[in-house]
Amino acid sequence: MSTQGIRDFRPEIHFTPATGWINDPNGLVYENGNYHLFAQYYPEPVWGPMHWCHAVSQDLLHWQHLPVALYPDADGAMFSGSAVYDKENTSGFGTKEHPPIVAMYTCHGDTEQQCIAYSTDTVNFAKYTGNPVIPNAEKIDFRDPKVIPNPKGGWSVVLAAGDRVEFYASENLKEWRKTGEFGPEGNHSQGVWECPDLFPLTIDGEEKWILIVSMGRNHENHGARTQYFIGQFDGETFTCDTPWDTAEFIDQSFDNYAGVTFDNAQERIMIAWGTSWIYARQLPTGEFCGYMAMPRKMELVHTPKGGLRMATPPVAWPFQEAPCGTGDLPGELFGLKVKGSGAATIRLENSRGQHFDFGVNEKGEIFIDRSQAGYKGFNEYFFSDWYSKISAPRYYEGEWELELHFDHSICELYADQYTRAFTQLMYPDTPYTKVAVAQGKAQVEVYAAK
Ligand code: FRU
Repeated sequence: MSTQGIRDFRPEIHFTPATGWINDPNGLVYENGNYHLFAQYYPEPVWGPMHWCHAVSQDLLHWQHLPVALYPDADGAMFSGSAVYDKENTSGFGTKEHPPIVAMYTCHGDTEQQCIAYSTDTVNFAKYTGNPVIPNAEKIDFRDPKVIPNPKGGWSVVLAAGDRVEFYASENLKEWRKTGEFGPEGNHSQGVWECPDLFPLTIDGEEKWILIVSMGRNHENHGARTQYFIGQFDGETFTCDTPWDTAEFIDQSFDNYAGVTFDNAQERIMIAWGTSWIYARQLPTGEFCGYMAMPRKMELVHTPKGGLRMATPPVAWPFQEAPCGTGDLPGELFGLKVKGSGAATIRLENSRGQHFDFGVNEKGEIFIDRSQAGYKGFNEYFFSDWYSKISAPRYYEGEWELELHFDHSICELYADQYTRAFTQLMYPDTPYTKVAVAQGKAQVEVYAAK
């Protein structure tokens, strides 16, 4: 729970810091039954010189906080990065019997440079004395390294360098050579590129590589979202299979940014930061500021109207198997399943007339509308049309099914077999107590938390 916000908005199954600020997830790595989550962290609920906080989970829904893993040092703040489980001990920081976790982070000082740190007990991290491992003297934006196993052996890094990404390769995680670049054409949001990721997925027996890039926050009316490109990676560089302008967002809304995936997990699972830079600093949550969005699986599917697309189902259905009703909401953690065919608006409402709407509009698009969803005093953009009313065309035709996972002040709407997703923050003054079909026809089922 939280005590210093306008009321207790702390979610139950979305990660938040006990106190203080978080932004991007960092260092996502799986080892021996544990999912490790590190994040951009500052001990006060404001952005400041970045640390990496650390938490661990066995189910990706419930997290145990661990000590801060990386503190700012004389060279700079600990900006975003990644971690790998170095099973073969290629770095020499551990042994084959006790492999190290090796993290690569951006040291943000006079310039941005890539550094590594390692742990042999998964909790305590030591910075490498040979840092930086990828030095940089002149580029202003040069950050967020994501280390991946190179398909030809050894390791690769993809990192964001202004309006493009760069690729590097290494055998031992310490010595790196540049192998390629991708960008900047198609950078239609005109913001700086951040937090890339690169991973393979298989469809119809064929391997595709997915390049993820979070981008575009330098115009206040555009916000930032995370795009994915589908293509090939030959161990040196990435090529896109389709024209750039067909690249889509992982999530349609703005409360999902900087998402990256776990190293070494059996499934490809992404966690993203569950808010937007535009209003993150003013969230009315008191002693904590920042959320992680629900971890989601990354899959490729053929869609009737959109061709090859990502489907990103949540890692769990964290609700009862059987519905508990159709209209009353059982608390502030609940699931909804909604079915319909034509246009319909589904509404969550509270006793003060505040409401959150979602559904399918007259144009046949999936939509959400939080413009009347709650407390308004904290940031003008949060309720502006651009940030609060979002819609996206369907990839499927005919009847539709929607799933909403609601957790106190953050929810995810999934549509069209998880090819469309919307992560949304909202702050109703009092809890929503009812769900109703406000317009059109639809069947709603309500599911209580497990
Ligand atoms: C993305 C980002 C990263 C950077 C970090 C700093 O949200 O801007 O590019 O490393 O946040 O906290």
